[in-house]
Amino acid sequence: MMFFFLLNLSINFVRPFYKTYSFSWIISEEYLQNANIISQQLIAYGYQYAIVDYLWYRSLKGDSNYLGFDMIDEWGRMLPDPERWPSSRGRRGFTDVANKVHSMGLKFGIHLMPGTSTQASNNNMPILDTTTGQPYMESGRVWNAKDIGIPSRACKWMTNGFMAINATTGAGKAFLRSIYELYASWGVDFILNGLEHPIVLSLSPGVSPTPLMANSVSSLVNTYRVTEDDWDEWSAILADFNVARDFAASNLIGKTCLRGKSWPDLDMLPFGWITDAAVREGPHRVTQDEQRTQMTLWCMAKSPIMYGGDLRKIDAWTLGLITNPTLLNINIFSSDNHEFLEITTLNDVKTKGHTVTKVPFTYSLALTECTDPKASGWSSEKYNQDLERICFKSPTQDQEEPFCVHKRELPIASSKQSSIQSEQIWKLKSNGTLVNGEIYVAFFNLNNETTRISANIADLPAFSRLGTRRKLRICAGTETWSRSIIRTKTTFSAEVPGHGIALFVLKCL
Ligand SMILES: *[C@@H]1O[C@H](CO)[C@@H](O)[C@H](O)[C@H]1NC(C)=O
Ligand SMILES: *[C@@H]1O[C@H](CO)[C@@H](O)[C@H](O)[C@H]1NC(C)=O
Ligand SMILES: *[C@@H]1O[C@H](CO)[C@@H](O)[C@H](O)[C@H]1NC(C)=O
Repeated sequence: MMFFFLLNLSINFVRPFYKTYSFSWIISEEYLQNANIISQQLIAYGYQYAIVDYLWYRSLKGDSNYLGFDMIDEWGRMLPDPERWPSSRGRRGFTDVANKVHSMGLKFGIHLMPGTSTQASNNNMPILDTTTGQPYMESGRVWNAKDIGIPSRACKWMTNGFMAINATTGAGKAFLRSIYELYASWGVDFILNGLEHPIVLSLSPGVSPTPLMANSVSSLVNTYRVTEDDWDEWSAILADFNVARDFAASNLIGKTCLRGKSWPDLDMLPFGWITDAAVREGPHRVTQDEQRTQMTLWCMAKSPIMYGGDLRKIDAWTLGLITNPTLLNINIFSSDNHEFLEITTLNDVKTKGHTVTKVPFTYSLALTECTDPKASGWSSEKYNQDLERICFKSPTQDQEEPFCVHKRELPIASSKQSSIQSEQIWKLKSNGTLVNGEIYVAFFNLNNETTRISANIADLPAFSRLGTRRKLRICAGTETWSRSIIRTKTTFSAEVPGHGIALFVLKCL
């Protein structure tokens, strides 16, 4: 499988997205109703990109692997299916949809298949030379779709639909330029190298990518899929733990790439109302504990967060999960996240041999105020009583969007701990990094029975980095879901439900 979509966004931080994943390929302009809900309810949490998933150009009279039902122009370029996207009639493409999405304060993204369509190849359509407006000519002849398509490299999961092209040829390059220029003219928020804006390239390099393979792609793209399509099944979540561990251990999370950083992508979060018409209808099949586990793993692994359910039917619990400020801050803001295994489970005699408990940790930075006069580029935005965002926009990088974190309660709030409170004040370094230690520890119980899990603070790798200079006195903080207070000089523990999670936000002095 190989697909990519392109967006214009700043790529130095992971950001949450929305993609019309749960609708399968059949979505129509009802997409705009979902976009409207993002602008009303999710934008304050950083969700800014509303992406139309695959096959927006295919007539509903075909099916997802049917040949000859795609809307394409005379140059072999995809156009929206006018039955589902009536505003595209008269060759307007996605212009009106993009305008509406922009007027909601959002960005518009689309899914693209790589290469050229079999339909264009069968009809041997000419390739547009955008510099002349004429068919592409080289070596005294016109080049057509058959000259660039490589039929032996058809898309494996849509064999009738698309094939790779030879992009080393002048005609192959001209074809790519012609599709990007068309989509840019509609207002799609992706832009090419060589045009004016930075791009984000999100690639799906195929099933079972390894860190070794990622090493070769991560310098070229901004996010890349490292898992198979992720439906709402516990077995799928379980499989992703090993992937997340391996990519973290290979230091591939946030690796510097061509234009910023690159992020291994664990795929969509199929929470809430999933409406894939071909497969299933209705709410999710994983428990709330399992969904918390999945969301936390995604955030700890700094995977792009992509919500894919039908927002018109989202319930309050799911909305709370995908906008949880602690989790979003971990996703955007934490660093150096890894698995560690120095934990004990107190009741695993019975389940010995089955218990596989993963404990990633992270050393993170906490931010509470913007009053420092040196905090140039920082600002705070209050959305309502409970929600305030603190944002940084580099004065020298005005093409980049601001990067924002959510202000929230300090992990230690009692007046008795004033010495700890004063430690919370962050210091801004000249390069824009914030310095303050906050450690996130997640106990994942992959077993199906409630298990008491504990760890020793001296075993936290984050602690050994913090604590070598002065003797550790105490770690304190809260467990995110139970809100229980932790204060310890030695161990801390939690009863973790089957397939569930305990998430500690700790400050160690
Ligand atoms: C791509 O085109 C180049 C230049 O014409 C040629 O040398 C190469 O063999 C082609 N590659 C494939 C996979 O067809
Ligand atoms: C920013 O500067 C601090 C020291 O002043 C350094 O430790 C840190 O690695 C720098 N971060 C980046 C992203 O350059
Ligand atoms: C719990 O897990 C054990 C071991 O994997 C399995 O045998 C058992 O059927 C599971 N129980 C439930 C209720 O899923």
